[in-house]
Amino acid sequence: MSDVALQAVGLVRRIEGAVSHTLVNGIDLSVGKGEFLAITGPSGSGKSSLLYLLGLLDAPSDGEVIICGQPTSKLSEDDRANVRLTKCGFVFQFHFLLPEFTSLENVLLPMRAAGQMGEKEMQERGLELLASLGLKDHAYKRPNQLSGGQRQRVAIARALSNRPEIIVADEPTGALDTTSTEQVFSILREIADSGRTVVVVTHDPALAARADRRVHIVDGRIHETFEGRGKSPEPAIAAAAPTASQV
Ligand SMILES: Nc1ncnc2c1ncn2[C@@H]1O[C@H](COP(=O)(O)OP(=O)(O)O)[C@@H](O)[C@H]1O
Ligand SMILES: [Mg+2]
Repeated sequence: MSDVALQAVGLVRRIEGAVSHTLVNGIDLSVGKGEFLAITGPSGSGKSSLLYLLGLLDAPSDGEVIICGQPTSKLSEDDRANVRLTKCGFVFQFHFLLPEFTSLENVLLPMRAAGQMGEKEMQERGLELLASLGLKDHAYKRPNQLSGGQRQRVAIARALSNRPEIIVADEPTGALDTTSTEQVFSILREIADSGRTVVVVTHDPALAARADRRVHIVDGRIHETFEGRGKSPEPAIAAAAPTASQV
């Protein structure tokens, strides 16, 4: 495999309490640059917990997450937040867009937080990203004026805004109809084909089969790994605009 973008070494996440739970129980995993990895497993098997560790939303009880060669377990909270903001983009089952903000304002949020770009540059990039996801005419609408699929595409634009190396998505199509599911999955596939790393938790075996590799999690451990290069689909949307991967 080419360069490793994301690595988990002996990853453990325990919840201590009257009754202790081990949510993630010793995971070793390397994900290549440009690889599209699917994570499957029964409900409660620890998929979300693993994904949050990989995306630095949560810290492990033991083990290490290495992002683009940088170990993260000993970073301060601030440094960790900074790596998360610039290297990782998140898409969840529910879009988590701010309801009082327009699509464009939502997409600008991570760029504003990173503070690397001027206002004009951020606005241009936001509009370009939205156009690349077929949302040119929806930039100034609020989430409640959009369909579920459109909202999830805004969430993807937001995830891409700081040009992260890694996109992690937790059941991103779990609340979508078939057409929107297809679009969202095709977009994620294109993002991986453009050289970013995509890690997706999904319940849908047909979608998981289109990933480059699938790891099946049971009880917080990797139970089985399936190799198999997914095929690039036809461009999902907005043929006239640059694709998400080009923006
Ligand atoms: N903060 C927590 N405290 C206690 N138990 C938790 C916590 N977070 C998750 N769990 C439990 O850990 C298990 C794994 O959760 P999760 O990673 O969400 O699984 P999955 O995404 O595969 O459904 C589940 O049984 C869940 O109820
Ligand atoms: Mg989950």
